[in-house]
Amino acid sequence: MKDLKVLISEEELNKKIKNVADKINAYFGENEELTVICVLKGAIMFCTHLVKYLKMPVKIECVRLSSYGADTKSSGKIKALDLTLPPLEDKNVLVVEDIIDTGLTIKFLKDYIETTLKPKKLKIATMANKKMARINEVQPDFYGFEVDDKFIVGFGLDYDEIYRNLPYIGYFE
Ligand code: IMP
Ligand code: MG
Repeated sequence: MKDLKVLISEEELNKKIKNVADKINAYFGENEELTVICVLKGAIMFCTHLVKYLKMPVKIECVRLSSYGADTKSSGKIKALDLTLPPLEDKNVLVVEDIIDTGLTIKFLKDYIETTLKPKKLKIATMANKKMARINEVQPDFYGFEVDDKFIVGFGLDYDEIYRNLPYIGYFE
C-alpha cells in the first residue's frame, strides 16, 4: 500500500448520497414509517448522512457484522457480532451497507431478516457497489456509485480499522 488517491471527493459523494435518498423517498413515499438498519461499522458515515435526507418517519437500528479482518479480501466467513433487532413484521425496512463486494455479507443479513423477522418490504442501499467481485445474485436496490476491483477506504470504509473518518473515498496505488 502506497499513496492514497482521491476516487470520489467529499462534494461529489454528498451529491451521490442525496441522489440515493431521493430514490428511497420516491420508492417508499413520505407517509409510512421506515426502519433503517445500519450495518456497523462500515456503514456508519453513509447511514448518518443518508437519513438526513429521508422524508418519511425513520427509525434507526444497528447490527454489527464482520467479514474482512486485516485483509483486503473477504474472508468469506461472516461473523455476526450483534444482530439485535426489534420485531419488523409489517414494517418497511431498509438495510444500509457501506459496500457490497462478494455479496456474502448482505445475502446473510437479507436471508436472516426475511426468514426470522418477515418485514413487509425489505430493500438494500449501499454506498458502493463492487459488481465485479459478486459471487451471488444479490443486488442493491439503491447505490451511490460503482467501483471496479479497487480496494477503497474512507467515509466509513477501513483498511485494518484505519481511514474510516476520511470525508472522501480514496484508494491506494
Ligand atoms: P462482502 O461480504 O464480500 O460483500 O463484503 C462486504 C464487506 O467487506 C463490506 O461491508 C466491507 O466492510 C468490506 N469491504 C469490501 N470491499 C471493501 C473495500 O474496497 N474497502 C473496504 N472494505 C471493503
Ligand atoms: Mg461492512
